[in-house]
Amino acid sequence: MDRKERLEEEFEVGEEDEAIHEYEALTDGYLHITASLIADEIASLAKARQGVAVDLGAGPGSLVRELSLRFPQLLVIGLDISLSMTKLARERAKVEGMKNVAFVVADVHHLPFQAQSLEVIVSHGAMHHWRRLDCALEQVKQSLAEKGFVYLSDLKRDTPDALVRHIASLLNQKQARAFLNSIQAAYTVEELAALVAAVGLDHMRVEPEAFSRRTIAKNIRKLKESPMRGMRQAAINLRLVRGAGTV
Ligand SMILES: C[S@@+](CC[C@H](N)C(=O)[O-])C[C@H]1O[C@@H](n2cnc3c(N)ncnc32)[C@H](O)[C@@H]1O
Repeated sequence: MDRKERLEEEFEVGEEDEAIHEYEALTDGYLHITASLIADEIASLAKARQGVAVDLGAGPGSLVRELSLRFPQLLVIGLDISLSMTKLARERAKVEGMKNVAFVVADVHHLPFQAQSLEVIVSHGAMHHWRRLDCALEQVKQSLAEKGFVYLSDLKRDTPDALVRHIASLLNQKQARAFLNSIQAAYTVEELAALVAAVGLDHMRVEPEAFSRRTIAKNIRKLKESPMRGMRQAAINLRLVRGAGTV
């Protein structure tokens, strides 16, 4: 599979709505573990403050729910362009009795927040969907509070072929096709570093995603039971981080 060039993934809200149950199954099988790992990683990097955290492209809201448990003093908002995803996320949060969460339907290219109003901006598995990542990052820059914390995680296009094939083999046919399209639409660390520099997002680190020992230790039981056990996160995912230790 030649992944030198990035291939945009077709994204239509209607299609995403059709794929919702497939994505929900994928979340329950695999991605809830990633959400827990990322939330613990963020909890160890970002000092807790009052204010608002937003998850961009929140989907069914796994990361929103995990963050709301670790940051009870924050309002955690899940933002997604799909109404059906947002309804599902709202329903799940309600069933779990979450109090400090909210969900909005919006486009990352036009964030509905005041300038410098967000203390924390996060995202997982969504950047490769955004048609103009430079514009979305510009919106992140505008909405972020002065010492705000950012953690944007996504697939990495230059994931080794053998690993891509192995992950695809664990999924059903529809999920595997969506995963391969997403990998093909994802960015490399170098591409994202260039975008971040062009947008002028200061103090942002762009790197393969590696979790601390503390984060791994907290999730070790879940990891051992996971089909993803033994896979190196740094080979599959990358992250943009700003503000570690300063928020
Ligand atoms: C692959 S899912 C990831 C969902 C979730 N973050 C997770 O990790 O499970 C990508 C999500 O991004 C949303 N999305 C795509 N383009 C978007 C846009 N321009 N603005 C807001 N959300 C968008 C989709 O509706 C979808 O729910």
